[in-house]
Formats: sequence, C-alpha cells, structure tokens
Amino acid sequence: MSLPSPHGGTLIQKYEPQFDLAKVTKTIAIDRIALSDLELIAIGLFSPLTGFLGKEDYESVVKKMRLSDGTVWSLPITLPVDLSVAEQLDKGEQYRLDFENTTYGVITVSEWFRPDLEIEAHHVYQTNDHAHPGVKRLFERGNHYVAGEITLIRKPEKKDFTDVWLEPKDTRALFVEKGWQSIVGFQTRNPIHRAHEYIQKAALETVDGLFVNPLVGETKADDIPATIRLESYRILLKEYFPRERVHLGVYPAAMRYAGPREAIFHAIARKNFGCTHFIVGRDHAGVGNYYGTYDAQEIFHNFTKEELGITPLFFEHSFYCHRCEGMASDKTCPHEMEDRVILSGTKVRELLSKGEQPPSTFSRKEVIDVLINGLKSDATVTRG
Ligand code: ADX
Repeated sequence: MSLPSPHGGTLIQKYEPQFDLAKVTKTIAIDRIALSDLELIAIGLFSPLTGFLGKEDYESVVKKMRLSDGTVWSLPITLPVDLSVAEQLDKGEQYRLDFENTTYGVITVSEWFRPDLEIEAHHVYQTNDHAHPGVKRLFERGNHYVAGEITLIRKPEKKDFTDVWLEPKDTRALFVEKGWQSIVGFQTRNPIHRAHEYIQKAALETVDGLFVNPLVGETKADDIPATIRLESYRILLKEYFPRERVHLGVYPAAMRYAGPREAIFHAIARKNFGCTHFIVGRDHAGVGNYYGTYDAQEIFHNFTKEELGITPLFFEHSFYCHRCEGMASDKTCPHEMEDRVILSGTKVRELLSKGEQPPSTFSRKEVIDVLINGLKSDATVTRG
C-alpha cells in the first residue's frame, strides 16, 4: 500500500505570502470559522476545493453529498455574509478577507447567492432544531454566501499548537520518511479516554502508523478547550503509546456536529493528510440524540471504495468490562451492563468540574490530572 492521492487528485496549494495586496482595496470581514476554512482550503486539507463554494456546487453538496462534477463532498464550505455586504460586491473583483482588521487572504468573487438555510439544516444536520449546535451556528452566521477562488496571504498564529500543526504536505512527507505504508487517522474533540485508546490500539495492530489528529478548531462552549486537551494528548502518548508508531498533529477545522455527514468529511480530510484508514466509532461527530449510534458508519455505504479513497475502520461502542478485566465491546464481551464501565460525557464533565476523578477504567490517571488542573486554571482565567 502507498499514500492515497489527495481527494480529487491534486493537493491544492494556495498560500502566497508575497501576494501584492496594494491593488486590493475592498474588504470583506470574516469570522473565525471562515478564517479557518480559508487556511484549510489554502493548505490543501480541503482538496479539491480552491475557494468557497458557488451555488451549483453548494446545492449539489447539500442534496447529493457531491460537488457538481460528482466528487464526493459532504459538507458545504461557504463564506456567509449579510445581504448588506453581498449587495456591494462586484463579480470578478478581488476582495481582502479580513479577520479582526487583519488581512489573511483574498477572494475573487465569482457570485453571491441566498441559500435556503432550512434546507441546508435539514440535509446536512438532519434537523432544523436550533438547539443543535451546528444548526444554531448556521443560522447565526450571515444568510448570503459569497463564492470564489481564494489565496491565503498570511497564516494565523499557531501559539500552543506550533509543534503539532502539520499541513498535508508535511504529514505526507513525514509518513514517507517513517516508511509507513498504511496509516490510520483518528479524529477526536475530547480527551482520549480508555475507549478511544482501545480503538486506536486495535486499529494500530493492523496498520503501520497511527496519526492522532484531534480537532482544535471552533467547538461548542462546553467541550473541553483544545489547549487543555493538547496537554492530555501529549502525556497519554508519552506514557502509553509506542513513540515510533504514533504521531500527533492537530486537525484545525471547526467542529460542525453534523454526525454522519461530518464523518465522511473527516475521512476525506485525513486522506488529504495522507492516511489510508480512518477510525469511525460510535456516534462519530454526533451531539445529543440527533443521530443513531452507527449512522456515521452506515453513511459510508453510499460511496464506493474508489471514490472515497480512504478505508473507514468501524468500531462498536467500547468500554471496560470488570468480568473481562479489559476493554471490550458487544462484539467481544458476553457480560451484563452492570459489569461494564460506561460514563456519559455529561457525567464525566460533572465529576471533573468538582475536581473528582473518574475511575481509571474510564480514563488514565495522567489524563484526568491534566484535565482537573487545566479546567481549574481555565475557570480562574475565565472568572478573573
Ligand atoms: S467526535 O465528535 O470527535 O467524533 P469523540 O472525540 O468522542 O467525538 O470521538 C472520537 C472517535 O472515537 C469517534 O470516531 C467516535 O466514534 C469514537 N468513540 C468515542 N467513544 C467511543 C466508544 N466508547 N466506543 C467506540 N468508539 C468511540
């Protein structure tokens, strides 16, 4: 096996720090998610996209999970603005893309249009409930979309993430250098608990390398902050994973909480990083009760192996079983619910916020210590 080709065949590269901004005088203000999307398009993580989606691609993605040329693409990557901004735009003109008064990129506007956000929510999130964090955000952002090719001119600062911020071109070179022929990517927006560790190690038994690729883009407020999680990943990998078979790099995209659709999107981004396999466990990228436990696995059956170009590895809901004295799932454990350690995210957050330790059968002590300390100082910072 060798590294998969980027999605669509070419690794998109649209970073031009030397770009002459002098002649681009007009500006569109963008939010943090659009800034992240701008950078991720430019570094090829969203290959084959070269800009924010136009109407034809957008409608095709929303309804068919494909770009208008048929390429599999499950989430619309769009640049939302208000009507008052859209009305001022001239087609074919270049505009600066500014976040908090700094120019990070340029877009050549090809069109702007008014999307039907109810239809987008219904197809992409499978709900129109504004209590869903992805739907909520969808309706909070602008209700007109600007389309066009982009160029990234300045990369946002990486701060705590500098040493784990790898672009697809870097990971591809790294995997080759390591001699890995098969690499499994792991997405998470949580600390790595025992179940996560178990499925990663089970996958690693069958491939050469594991790319631990936690999401550090925008998440909802009650998810654990990425900087705290990062510290927990570092200690866990140091203590419990073989250094030469695992690499940590961040996935800087915003979390959409789109469950099944996002699982496809996550897999494609990991293919662009150079992964041959991708882990999909229970309720991948889900939130609340909006998706069935294994919907994010079933959705993969809509596509052929060739058009996805990355192999999903599916895992059942895993847990520690006291009778088995180890990690297991329904596939491998015959025991009763009482023998199993299953804690909800809410329960764990509750314990952590009180400074209490969830059991080591749920999470490694080293991880819990980092989380308790991190959340304590985070609360101090937030309150102070
Ligand atoms: S996600 O939003 O990034 O998917 P999370 O960080 O909880 O959330 O999950 C990361 C990956 O581990 C996903 O593929 C998810 O399906 C899987 N996963 C999480 N918990 C379990 C579990 N107990 N058993 C099996 N898979 C799990």
